[in-house]
Amino acid sequence: MLTVSSIAGLRRIIAEYRKMGQSVGFVPTMGNLHAGHLMLVDKADSLSDRVIASIFVNPTQFGPNEDYEGYPRTEEEDAKKLETHAADVLFLPSVETMYSDVNSTTTVSVPYLSSTLCGESRPGHFDGVATIVTKLLNIVQPDIAVFGGKDYQQLVLIRQMVSELAIPTQIVACDTCREEDGLAMSSRNIYLSREHRRIAPGLYQELCRAVDMIRRRKAGFDEINLQTRANLEQQGFQVQYIEVRRQGDLRPPAAEDKLLIILGAVCLASTRLIDNIIFELD
Ligand code: PAF
Repeated sequence: MLTVSSIAGLRRIIAEYRKMGQSVGFVPTMGNLHAGHLMLVDKADSLSDRVIASIFVNPTQFGPNEDYEGYPRTEEEDAKKLETHAADVLFLPSVETMYSDVNSTTTVSVPYLSSTLCGESRPGHFDGVATIVTKLLNIVQPDIAVFGGKDYQQLVLIRQMVSELAIPTQIVACDTCREEDGLAMSSRNIYLSREHRRIAPGLYQELCRAVDMIRRRKAGFDEINLQTRANLEQQGFQVQYIEVRRQGDLRPPAAEDKLLIILGAVCLASTRLIDNIIFELD
């Protein structure tokens, strides 16, 4: 695997692949790689001749009171993992390479999707994500780019952005990777205390219970949201939101909508966890 930190260097390598007629798959990450990230790399490998992975802890998607400085940076271990998972190139740019001025940069903003759900408690976060993903897609110009389903709002936002900006990359989604007890894998899980790690799978369990209730038409969406929130609070979670939405655009569902998703964001002390389950009503 080649590691490259300059845009020009990466473009030279990709130009060689293109000259040979090879397709390129891309997996953007912020590092601290776990099995979920490696599944994205395997997916990219199964769909393209060459796989480029990037590691960049993007400052513009962190709020002023978020964990940018303390975000786990484990590039050496990450590189070893990528190498055993068929990545051809690791793109590892510095902040200066990606932003000439981090506080004043051209910004991509996706209306509605950037301000609902997680956007409410993380103002500016999705503008940072949309901007860096646009930039990375422009640099790599991949045939496909793979994103995880745990960050479902990010996935829908990127799909809309790529479509509206006519970026010629196919966005591929991968299912959420879970620990044995159901907790969605996340680089932030390492912040959980032993007691909070014990409680954490409750989020997924409550979402499963909510989906079951909806399927059995046991209650309306508002009632389900409130009930799930109350159950989680009782277990020790601080709940930011629990919402049933439409899968395609994350708008509140109408009575005739069948393709739905339940999403939740909670905190255990200062660790924020998100999760979701997509489901279809018959
Ligand atoms: O999902 C992530 O790790 C990040 O939001 C992404 C897509 C790499 C952009 O920084």
